[in-house]
Amino acid sequence: MSRRLEGQTAWIGGAGSGIGAAVARLFAAEGARVALADVRTAAGKQVEAEIAAAGGMAMFSTCDVGRENDVRAAVDQAAERFGGLRIVVNCAGVVHVGPLHELDEDDWDHVMGVNLKSIFFSFKHAWNYLRENPQSYMVNVGSISSFVGQAATPAYTASKHAVLGLSRSIALDYAAAGLRCNCVCPGITDTPMLREHLGKTGDADLALLKRLHRVPLGRALVPLDVARAVLYLSCEDSAGVTGTSLVVDGGYLAAAEWE
Ligand SMILES: NC(=O)c1ccc[n+]([C@@H]2O[C@H](COP(=O)([O-])OP(=O)(O)OC[C@H]3O[C@@H](n4cnc5c(N)ncnc54)[C@H](O)[C@@H]3O)[C@@H](O)[C@H]2O)c1
Repeated sequence: MSRRLEGQTAWIGGAGSGIGAAVARLFAAEGARVALADVRTAAGKQVEAEIAAAGGMAMFSTCDVGRENDVRAAVDQAAERFGGLRIVVNCAGVVHVGPLHELDEDDWDHVMGVNLKSIFFSFKHAWNYLRENPQSYMVNVGSISSFVGQAATPAYTASKHAVLGLSRSIALDYAAAGLRCNCVCPGITDTPMLREHLGKTGDADLALLKRLHRVPLGRALVPLDVARAVLYLSCEDSAGVTGTSLVVDGGYLAAAEWE
């Protein structure tokens, strides 16, 4: 395996499961010291232990990424332990399913807090560390819902459109200071979030099959497919790329219709 992140330091929000855990494992295998943050302590510690067992360096902090004080503390702990930070990746996400007129304000705030405000908080508190590097990186995980609407997920869709807008804005404002900020936008990826979401339809396997009819590659992505795109945007392989989105969706967005 190449060691494209040898000696680098990365903070990864939502690293306890799915795509975030895959990013953490891949970054560690590529030589990075990885700080994992997640609201679920047992899941985060499990990923931390797996990385250590594989010979990597990881630290975990319990952190609700929608709370500024949690994010500040987790980022400071990581920078103190690793002697700085060069890469920030935001993977934490939640979906709320239901029509807009039935959504409570608390549900709206929760989705916006985890999916969107987390990017504001992690950037705000990591910037003093990132700016110490001649080149630094932020990668935010959007979604195909950053481009198109999906039924019954109004807050999620709004938050993911905003993730792309915020990423572009950060890219513009901090490019001259050496930061590149990009978005990775996954399609249907087999993670606990997807399973939970599909489970609400009654028959998760059938619901997945129906969705995969619209995916030209004909399969659900695995978290590593998405993590590889995050890696590309977190190292010099993508020099010259900022303020953009990399869609990893098996071709889902390429067609208006797919039979
Ligand atoms: N799975 C898909 O099909 C899919 C598609 C498009 C986009 N995404 C996006 O990918 C990202 C990762 O999702 P996933 O599919 O790996 O889901 P996942 O549920 O497996 O992982 C999400 C992680 O975020 C953590 N999290 C939730 N709330 C948090 C909070 N308040 N503070 C800290 N951590 C919190 C969870 O504990 C979990 O470990 C999300 O942003 C999601 O919106 C997923």
